[in-house]
Amino acid sequence: CAVEVVVVGSCNSDLTTFAERLPRPGETITGTGFESAFGGKGSNQAVCAARLGARVAMVAKVGGDKHGDEQVENLASNGVDTSQVTRAARGVPTGVAQVCVDTATGQNTIVIVPGANGVVAPADVAAADALFAGAKVTVCQLEIPQDATLAALRRGREHGHVTIFNPAPAPAALLPGILEASDIVCPNETELELLCGDGGADCSTLEGVERAARAMLERGAGSVVATLGERGALLVPGRFGGKSGSSGDGSDDSAQRAVRHFPAPAGAKAVDTTGAGDAFVGALAAQLARGRSLSAAAAAAVRVASVSVGARGAQASYPRAAGLPAELRLAQRSGGN
Ligand code: RIB
Ligand code: NA
Repeated sequence: CAVEVVVVGSCNSDLTTFAERLPRPGETITGTGFESAFGGKGSNQAVCAARLGARVAMVAKVGGDKHGDEQVENLASNGVDTSQVTRAARGVPTGVAQVCVDTATGQNTIVIVPGANGVVAPADVAAADALFAGAKVTVCQLEIPQDATLAALRRGREHGHVTIFNPAPAPAALLPGILEASDIVCPNETELELLCGDGGADCSTLEGVERAARAMLERGAGSVVATLGERGALLVPGRFGGKSGSSGDGSDDSAQRAVRHFPAPAGAKAVDTTGAGDAFVGALAAQLARGRSLSAAAAAAVRVASVSVGARGAQASYPRAAGLPAELRLAQRSGGN
């Protein structure tokens, strides 16, 4: 049956060390744990959406190595269509992320080495056209080359999708046209500051986040949903609206235009925030694919992301539909749309 969400992005092997604090430059510290797991912002988002019940396909590249085999198996075992997850040329390895998690705060630092993610090209997007046809939502990030991301967002537009762009990790500059091709941009505070600051953005307050988001709207983004860690998320709506997926819960026009803050559920301890933003984006995509309004989708996505911070790892911490309250899961659909 037809795919609903197409994720074009990265797959990484996450090599994660846990320690009571992060090391300083030049310092060696002793950690308390090590885990090797599946990650990569694209793969994380695809797996999160699929676990909530969406039909998801991924367009990605992995190495022709055993890590590449494992990435494909992992996606498939999570129900993600891997027909367009292809192998990079010989000698190009699967992407790797070295993650260090501070167990006192759940915060992390990450170094990625793109490998095969770095050779995803616009031609890979063109080759996946049959997946885009009939789908509803395109999801992109920045762990693959920007020209491939731009091609994917534009391809999604041509197919009438809602296009979601997660500008992570934040680059020094965005390729012209990316924001204009994005119905919804989902940055975190750091990405918002880097991309919209001109040195001046301060996202320490919600007002500052809104100002920076408005700068992003002026540069062409359809709407902005900023993820704010323990502060939840802020929706700053712009021109995005009236397309499939932008409404569907009967809310009126003025409600659709209001800035909305979605606080994270109180009282949850952050064990590991790795991939929480990806859980948010994946859940948002899944909800929008079923025609929820942007604000209803963002509210649900905050709750899914907050579940993920309560356990170690990225995908390892993402909920499965069966363990979630009914309003966060998608109804199973058989057959086409
Ligand atoms: O967003 C979290 C992800 O960033 C990790 O899974 C790691 O692979 C890096 O890509
Ligand atoms: Na987690």
